[in-house]
Formats: sequence, structure tokens, C-alpha cells
Amino acid sequence: MISLSLLLLPIFSPCFFPFFTASQRPTSFYIIQITSFANSTWTRYRGSGWLDDLQIHGWNSDTGTAIFLKPWSKGNFSDAEITDLVELFRVYDFSFIREILLSSPKSQILDPFEIQGIAGCELHSGGAILSFLRGALGGQDFVSFRNSSCVPAPEGGSRAQLVCTLLRPYGDIFQIVEKLLYETCPRYLLGVLEAGKADLQRQVKPKAWLSSGSSPGPGRLLLVCHVSGFYPKPMWVMWMRGEQEQQDTQRGDFLPNADGTWYLQATLDVAAGEAAGLACRVKHSSLGGQDLILYWGEKGLGPRWEIRGDGSQE
Ligand SMILES: *[C@@H]1O[C@H](CO)[C@@H](O)[C@H](O)[C@H]1NC(C)=O
Ligand SMILES: *[C@@H]1O[C@H](CO)[C@@H](O)[C@H](O)[C@H]1NC(C)=O
Ligand SMILES: *[C@@H]1O[C@H](CO)[C@@H](O)[C@H](O)[C@H]1NC(C)=O
Repeated sequence: MISLSLLLLPIFSPCFFPFFTASQRPTSFYIIQITSFANSTWTRYRGSGWLDDLQIHGWNSDTGTAIFLKPWSKGNFSDAEITDLVELFRVYDFSFIREILLSSPKSQILDPFEIQGIAGCELHSGGAILSFLRGALGGQDFVSFRNSSCVPAPEGGSRAQLVCTLLRPYGDIFQIVEKLLYETCPRYLLGVLEAGKADLQRQVKPKAWLSSGSSPGPGRLLLVCHVSGFYPKPMWVMWMRGEQEQQDTQRGDFLPNADGTWYLQATLDVAAGEAAGLACRVKHSSLGGQDLILYWGEKGLGPRWEIRGDGSQE
């Protein structure tokens, strides 16, 4: 019999931990709305729908229509229910802008300003789904919606308190918002996660290659390890000397590729004489525990060669 502790060892080693325990699929759906007011006649409304960091809906503000970016973006909702929701957002789009314009003191309209809203729901472990709605003004928390009422954010000061006071008579709007947040959103979230399952739970292996960046100074080299085309997003990349992680490794931001996969780079600033023997190590859930390891300057090809997730080289 194989010892259980041996089996668990790789799973609980720190490097593997995120890939086997972190949820591989998104857990939240939310709508982002950004309204920019340049002056009393020019406003722009932008809306979008997201599953975690994956955009699945767009909004055409000129026509007041939704754009479904994935074949499964409607989840399990019927066309009739989708049409009703789109109609609701269309009314909201126009009336929201009108209300703001009408209720803003002239001085505010002269200053360009931007309102951002985020609303949605999130699946937690154990199956509970929590809903949220927050609004920001000029990039600062402004108001949120909790327990059926408008709650001013401390950062919003007296203006946020005023907005909540102004909204208090609109009880029927709160009821619609409440239904959307606590009934529609959870039902939609579960349905869309199921509808998009094959796409959302796919595993795409990274490609990795090395290059040198612009020299950080005399006698120094910037080693760059590029990792691209992977999905899902959790990814571990580190410059190594043997088994020794190089703690000075700088990881860039995750950048999206057009096909929905991700790109990440890791750089290391070293003395030119110390580059030999360094390697870039990549761990990803798609690799099934077979890390990619690229050695600096190996194969006589200089720093530029590439290895695919399936082990083949280019
Ligand atoms: C309002 O802002 C837009 C966009 O910046 C600009 O093109 C337009 O001329 C402005 N209109 C007025 C009346 O200031
Ligand atoms: C939510 O609102 C209800 C009714 O107004 C109230 O009884 C309850 O205490 C509130 N809960 C919280 C957490 O504020
Ligand atoms: C969609 O799926 C969810 C979760 O399984 C379910 O509760 C709901 O009834 C389904 N249908 C619609 C139209 O929401």
C-alpha cells in the first residue's frame, strides 16, 4: 500500500498548494458601470459584465443593447428573461444619467466627473452566495447598498449622505435592485458557471522563453523569463539557481492575451558573470506537476529559445 503521507507531500508543498486548492473556476459575477460627465451635454456610459476577471458582456450605450461575448453568456436564462433584463438596464442607463444631470448643482456639472458602480454576487465555500453593490465617485468609495438601504461611505463625506437621503423615497427602485442582487444574480451565477463550464475549466499549457532586457547598469544583465498563453490564471514563476529560489525575482502584472489566455514575465537583475547556471522555473495546473525549466544560455542558442508546455522546443 502506498503511504498516504507520500501521496499528500507534493500537494501540500508550498509551490503546489495554490494549484490544487484554489478554485479553478470563477466564483463571482458582477456588472461594472462607469459614467463619465464631461459637461452638461456630454456624458458617456460604459457597462460590462464579468466572471471574476473574464469579461462576458459588453454594453452598446448608443443603442442600449447588450453584447454577449461568449456563446454561453446568457447562462441558462431564457431569451425572454434576458430581453427583460436588457430593457431594465436600458432604462437605468438613460434615467440614471438624466437623474444625475438634473440633480447636480451647476458647479458639479462644470467639473468633469466620473461615477463607477459595481454590483454582483459571489459564491463562497459551502455554497453561500453573497451579493454586493458599491458606488464610487472620482475613484473613491461613495455609497453601498446593504440590508435594503443606501449606506454612505465615510470617504464620501456629506455628499454621500446627501445622495442616500435623496434616494430614500425611491423604495420601488430598491425593491428591484434587491431582487436583482439577491434572487436574479445567484440564479444567473450558478447557471452561467454551468453553461460555460467547458470553457471556464479548460487547461491551456504555457509557452515560455527567455530574453535579456535592457541592461540595468554596467556589467549587469536583466534576465527576462516570458510565460504566455496559459489558462487558468494562477501561475508560479521564479528564477532559480539549482533548487534555490532567487528572491530578487520581480514578477510583472498578469496581462491578458486576445484569446483569453494570460501572459506573465519574471525578471532578475544579475551581475553578468553570474547568469550562467540560472534557470526560470514555471509551475501551472495544466502541466500536471511537470514544471517547465529553462536554463539561461543553454543549447548554444543564446538566451532566446522557447519551450512549450508539452515539452517540445521551438
Ligand atoms: C462637452 O464635452 C465634450 C467632450 O469633452 C466636448 O467635445 C464638447 O465640446 C463639450 N461641450 C460643451 C458645451 O462644453
Ligand atoms: C436589516 O434591516 C432589518 C429591517 O429594517 C433590521 O431588523 C435588521 O436588524 C437589519 N440588519 C442589519 C444587519 O443591519
Ligand atoms: C438556472 O440554474 C440555476 C442553478 O442551477 C437554477 O436555480 C435556475 O432555476 C435555472 N433556471 C433559470 C431560468 O434560472
